[in-house]
Amino acid sequence: MSAEGSASALEAARREAQALRQSLAEHNHAYYVLDAPKLSDGEYDALFDRLLALEAAHPELVDPSSPTQRVGGAPASGFQSVAHPTAMLSLGKCTDEEGVRDFDERLRRELDRALLTYTCEPKIDGVAVRLVYEQGRLVLAATRGDGQTGEDITGNIRTISAVPLALRGDDWPAQLEVRGEVYMARSAFAAYNAGAEAGGYKPLVNPRNGAAGSLRQLDPAITARRPLRIFAYSVGEAGSEQFQSHSQALDALRRWGLPVNPHTTRCEGVEAVLSFIDRCLTQRADLDYDIDGVVIKLDDLALQQAAGVLSRTPRWALAFKPPAEEAVTRLEALELQVGRTGAVTPVARLAPVFVGGVTVSNATLHNFDEVARLDVRPGDTVWVRRAGDVIPQVVRVDLDLTPSPRSEAPAVPTQCPVCAAALRREADAVVLRCPNSQGCPAQLVAGLQHFAQRTAMDIDGLGEKVASALVETGLLKDVADLYHLDLPTVAGLPRLAEKSAQNLIDAIAASKRRPLARVIFALGIREVGEATAVTLAEAFPSLPALIAADFDALTALRDVGPIVAQGILDHFAEPAHRSLVERLLAAGVDPEPPAPRGPQPLAGQNWVLTGTLSTLPRKAAKDRLQALGAKVTGSVSKNTDVVVAGEAAGQKLAAAQAAGIPIMDEAAFIEFLEARE
Ligand code: IVH
Repeated sequence: MSAEGSASALEAARREAQALRQSLAEHNHAYYVLDAPKLSDGEYDALFDRLLALEAAHPELVDPSSPTQRVGGAPASGFQSVAHPTAMLSLGKCTDEEGVRDFDERLRRELDRALLTYTCEPKIDGVAVRLVYEQGRLVLAATRGDGQTGEDITGNIRTISAVPLALRGDDWPAQLEVRGEVYMARSAFAAYNAGAEAGGYKPLVNPRNGAAGSLRQLDPAITARRPLRIFAYSVGEAGSEQFQSHSQALDALRRWGLPVNPHTTRCEGVEAVLSFIDRCLTQRADLDYDIDGVVIKLDDLALQQAAGVLSRTPRWALAFKPPAEEAVTRLEALELQVGRTGAVTPVARLAPVFVGGVTVSNATLHNFDEVARLDVRPGDTVWVRRAGDVIPQVVRVDLDLTPSPRSEAPAVPTQCPVCAAALRREADAVVLRCPNSQGCPAQLVAGLQHFAQRTAMDIDGLGEKVASALVETGLLKDVADLYHLDLPTVAGLPRLAEKSAQNLIDAIAASKRRPLARVIFALGIREVGEATAVTLAEAFPSLPALIAADFDALTALRDVGPIVAQGILDHFAEPAHRSLVERLLAAGVDPEPPAPRGPQPLAGQNWVLTGTLSTLPRKAAKDRLQALGAKVTGSVSKNTDVVVAGEAAGQKLAAAQAAGIPIMDEAAFIEFLEARE
């Protein structure tokens, strides 16, 4: 080829490489920042491979900002120290509402304002980093270290696809310092550990340690194999001159291609801050990353300056961290509990301990595999966890705090602790079960309590003591026997006052007429919870109709999949279960069928709710949509008909806009509902 020809071939390759890098950067942005990927992984890889091939053929085209250059260079022998030009501060903390109010009051007093605006962000539980961009190119990344000096981890940070190597747009300052938190998504953590088990490498302890350990790898190639992500949460001194407010700075970061947490919200006044905290902490379990609280920052940068900084913490920001969800205590005994389905569960009796806002003295251990995995023994010092309303759990033994010698590891039981039947382990299930479903008193007592609970037959006064007494004296063989009890018999029970006996008889009589859904739930069919019971009651107007339903009729229902359907069929295949229903009906139990449903103008439509609705709780909005027949789903897809976007809607709104899906704001949505209800 002539010199001229090869020059023009190089020029063509240069242009193609440029176009490919541009396109790959766009797709990275769509994936990590907008959360709305436009390409499949395979298509992305094809573009990437083409770029690799071009760069291999023309090494002179290689550019450090090329996505092919994320992993480069040999492993380092150590990390260089980096001084932070302005200290990376930590945050003052509070654990309750009062602390937030005090913070706001102090700032309003000092700054002489009636109302202050804050930016509230989830506090990501990861590793703090500082990124430096010069002329839009990533030139340095450092850990926080002691706040004054950190370590140069540029090579490792470059491997994180969510971190742009070159900023988007062109209105960034020549020097830009970005601060943010590197984290590992829970799903990525779980996938990594699943692979670890199969591949024989060491599992990670938790997502935070996963992120920290990955960033500390001396070989960036190892970091590159760990799925890390980042949320940018502020602009450092370099680059902040052009902003009036923190929220403006975050908007700019987002524009320049850095992932900013989509839940970030500007809140006017302390009440808005408190409701953000509430929402954020209730949604916590649904997030794909760990948060350890909420960060509240004064939005106006001039006011931040005026509020000033203490030695290590800014006075204009505060971390709200809810009370510890874990505490340490002594496991006094391991006992066995037999549930209404015969499942035999080990339960930890604990020295009472205050955790997650309540005093806890029992915790579940789930099953004996879990007992073995944790290696818990009576007398051990254990960590107990209780988050939100979940049942307290023993998470681990603290061997450093456990007195030695320890007791023997408990043996896995072979007999039901109540009726002595030989226990069975179901095929590929970890649950041990007492098979004596008709005769085991413990199963009957638990079944009675399930039957009588408020959301089922609502029989007040049938707690564990009374239920046990009725079973022990042989008065009850199944729940239908309840409806044949008379006052003299009940009054004759030990430790039951005459008045309570009468109340119980009245409560049993009143329970004969309950909504069909509650009666279905009360039967204790495996896999049928309260919500499924409502679906079943709507489809089958009586118990005999439900018993007659076949697999196809069941799986045709919304929310009923093959497992639930089979659970229902198996239940009624048992003669004892069918005869129980007959005996209940014969005793006068007369379930009330549900009122016919209103019109369903939204039947067949898929709706997505995103952002915050200020006048309507999310759950209420969902219920109202479902009552009109719509299906409410969690993510935007090509099947989505409408997206309702409240305040601070983020990726889902962006995805809907990109896909041209109709979007409704809150006012239009309320009007829409009211016109149809
Ligand atoms: S702002 C001066 N915002 O929390 C303000 N920090 O205890 C400095 N963190 O080291 C931090 N999410 O690692 C801020 N949205 C967020 C955050 C956040 C997590 C971490 C960060 C920092 C620590 C402060």
